[in-house]
Amino acid sequence: MCGIMGYVGPNQAAPVLLDGLRRLEYRGYDSAGIAVLGSTIEVRKAEGKVGRLIDLTEASPLDGSVGIGHTRWATHGAPSDLNAHPHSDPSGAFVVVHNGIIENFYDLRDRLIADGHEFVSETDTEILAHLVAEAYDGDLAGAVRRAVSQAEGAYALVVMTVHEPGKIVAVRRISPLVVGLGDGETFLASDIPAVLHRTRDFLIVEDGELVIVDSEGATIETIEGVTVERDRLHVDWDSEMAEKGGYDHFMLKEIHEQPAVVTETLAGRLEEDGSAWLDNVHFDDAFARNLRRIWITACGTAYNAGMVGSEVFRRLLRMPTSVEYAHEMRYADPLVAEGDLVIAISQSGETADTLAAARLAKERGARLLALTNVVGSTLAREADDILYTRAGPEISVASTKAYMAMLIGQYLLALRIGAARGLADPDLASRVIHGLHALPAALESVMHREAEVAEAAKRIAEADDVYFIGRGLDYAIAVEGSLKLKEISYVHSEAMPAGELKHGTLALITEGIPVVVVLTQEALYDKTVSAIQEVKARGGDIIAVAYDDDDRIARFADTVLRIPRSDDLLGPVSGVVPLQLLAYHVAKIRGNDIDQPRNLAKSVTVE
Ligand code: M6R
Repeated sequence: MCGIMGYVGPNQAAPVLLDGLRRLEYRGYDSAGIAVLGSTIEVRKAEGKVGRLIDLTEASPLDGSVGIGHTRWATHGAPSDLNAHPHSDPSGAFVVVHNGIIENFYDLRDRLIADGHEFVSETDTEILAHLVAEAYDGDLAGAVRRAVSQAEGAYALVVMTVHEPGKIVAVRRISPLVVGLGDGETFLASDIPAVLHRTRDFLIVEDGELVIVDSEGATIETIEGVTVERDRLHVDWDSEMAEKGGYDHFMLKEIHEQPAVVTETLAGRLEEDGSAWLDNVHFDDAFARNLRRIWITACGTAYNAGMVGSEVFRRLLRMPTSVEYAHEMRYADPLVAEGDLVIAISQSGETADTLAAARLAKERGARLLALTNVVGSTLAREADDILYTRAGPEISVASTKAYMAMLIGQYLLALRIGAARGLADPDLASRVIHGLHALPAALESVMHREAEVAEAAKRIAEADDVYFIGRGLDYAIAVEGSLKLKEISYVHSEAMPAGELKHGTLALITEGIPVVVVLTQEALYDKTVSAIQEVKARGGDIIAVAYDDDDRIARFADTVLRIPRSDDLLGPVSGVVPLQLLAYHVAKIRGNDIDQPRNLAKSVTVE
């Protein structure tokens, strides 16, 4: 995810900005840049690491004590020198850096081009520089206000102009932004660790606020211009804690980032009427109408996301869809052919087996769609269509937020294909669309119940074996819950369809054995309860994941982890969160290395 820096003070800005960008490197990025205001504004930027930018700045120094900086994680436009931030208006008098996505980018760009504007990059950010310059009438804050009133999306924007030296103006719409208060100097950053070694006093900019920064501090206003009083936050974290946003582990931070990830992945892609506008997905309506079959191929957690996706495609489109392990598919002589769509899912876009299955699909004439988190990854480069998941870099080896974004991506794809070939059940589709928009708030409410999950984790932490059961989509997330638990807690666990238990595994259920049951599928509820009864009869310890308003479950379960009610087709999205938290807390109790579990790599590039 992009990182932002800003500085106003008595010192040279460039070293402060570069140092801050280095400290934001953990967020992941593919290019970096800074702009410094002296007698004019000068920009240095480059694809690649901050080290390259430092070399560039040493070769061609920047003089000035006001500046902004950025590390970019590509969304609109490939990683390149040209697409790196900062971006300027054509006169060079205004520069901007920006984190997030401008949803109505194409409309704004078309309007500006029609008015004679020319652009040098492929980014959505550059249009913001043009909009601010166009709106400027002697007051930078006013110009920024008028510019952002035209831009929809979730973002943070920082602007500087030669016309008002000694000042930076920034706006927060969802993407984080903090002000660091020094002695006669002020910092802006997307995250506290960037400047924690320089100050421990911060103002947190909230959603929908504009901040005017100078060397004496900062004035915060609502976007409408009403002054806001904000208390200073004094931060005691050490630098390692600060990188993790105050969480003990990256995994926990990433679990908690999921509401924002859903917002980002949906941003600009799903209209209220259900039409899904997916940048980089190029197939036309005729292709979607004539589609013979959908294949999903992936490994590990990405495969588990595909299990949910295949059911979503089946229910929304009523067309043949299957999910295949990539390491199996590549050797199975699959019946993939022209007229098929193969969706290869991979967080990294570099998993060797997934690439091999994807290449095989292309050789056989299928159209290849990459659902990946990494812009410019091998999978993305080789695919006909790409849907980027926008989860931001995932640092914990155990995947959580990338899985979440993969789920959302597949709902979007199903709606996009359904818009062309007709949706099997338009009422279901509109419930899903409504539910997707409501998801960030729903996920937030699950996070608030973490203490209950941590309590349940105490029992699992003592177990040698744990079973996860569910039916249909509940089985799909049971598989992911079980994998998470194995990966980081090293407790043996197995997931199976609830109906399969009685065909053998019941032999292993004895007094006190924990069985995690997922119950988000109303139509299958009673059948799953039968499996619960079989477990209870043998003394098993039932931990259930169920909706808030499910008043039957308390009769059967020893512990109930609640999630907000949603349409059943979206049940897995909220339902997986307690399972992720459960795995995390079990691993924590057992004292494991959560972010770097044994025997696992973040990207498996070997066969
Ligand atoms: O980068 P990918 O999504 O292709 O990775 C696939 C698997 O290796 C990955 O999901 C793995 O299962 C993770 N450890 C999950 O937490």
